[in-house]
Amino acid sequence: MPVFNKEAPAVNVPQHVAIIMDGNGRWAKKRGLPRTAGHREGAKTLRRIIRDLDSFGVKYATFYCFSTENWSRSEEEVSSLMKLLEENLDDLVNYKDENIKLRFIGGRERLSENLIKKMENGERNSLGHTGMTVTLAINYGGRDEIVRAAKKAASLAKQGIIDPESIDEQSFGDMIAADGVPDVDLMIRTGGELRLSNFLIWENSYAELYFTDTLWCDFSKKDLEAALNEFSRRSRRFGDAK
Ligand code: IPE
Ligand code: IPE
Ligand code: MG
Repeated sequence: MPVFNKEAPAVNVPQHVAIIMDGNGRWAKKRGLPRTAGHREGAKTLRRIIRDLDSFGVKYATFYCFSTENWSRSEEEVSSLMKLLEENLDDLVNYKDENIKLRFIGGRERLSENLIKKMENGERNSLGHTGMTVTLAINYGGRDEIVRAAKKAASLAKQGIIDPESIDEQSFGDMIAADGVPDVDLMIRTGGELRLSNFLIWENSYAELYFTDTLWCDFSKKDLEAALNEFSRRSRRFGDAK
């Protein structure tokens, strides 16, 4: 009997789930396929899991698609990852009836014009959507994001628009995520590695962390449900002594 479903929401459904989708290369290798075949399969998992998260009543989901460090991979792998992103954005944007609000984080300066255009279209076309907010992290680095916010704050202070003394966690956090997306409640990493790999350094500050050996391509609704159930059993004290 699933604990989580929209009809009977459990008390502890995380509002914001972030996922490090790792293990595509190993999934392909196990099958004697090129790494790019793993990424193709991983993109299918992404589309599946977006729906599953929605069905469990999760309101915000953030997916790590391409890190600032991933540029160090072979040109072939990088270009196939970029191509896959473009293809899948088309599909995501075309799911109009799904009511998903699309949003992107990460620097756009190294991305192709075509991809940027699709990202902008996706954001624009889904602006009025009221369903789950899906954030795709592309050319994203947690430290890079914090540095960008620091630059913004410094520039506003230099122009006399803000008083440096007025900067606090709330206002600085708003410079990182200006559109009111809350901090991460549950951070899932597939593929067995036990690290953050520069993902959502600020937003994961008090997230519950969940690691699974399951490779992203194999990650199923059942696996997601196991993570959500584990989350509901955690006691989030936020430093309190309760
Ligand atoms: C995650 O899978 C996808 C991206 C990083 C883009 P990997 O490609 O890192 O797969 P492994 O970790 O090599 O198996
Ligand atoms: C993290 O996975 C990045 C994405 C899933 C996009 P990596 O495979 O790049 O991370 P490391 O190299 O194991 O830290
Ligand atoms: Mg990896």
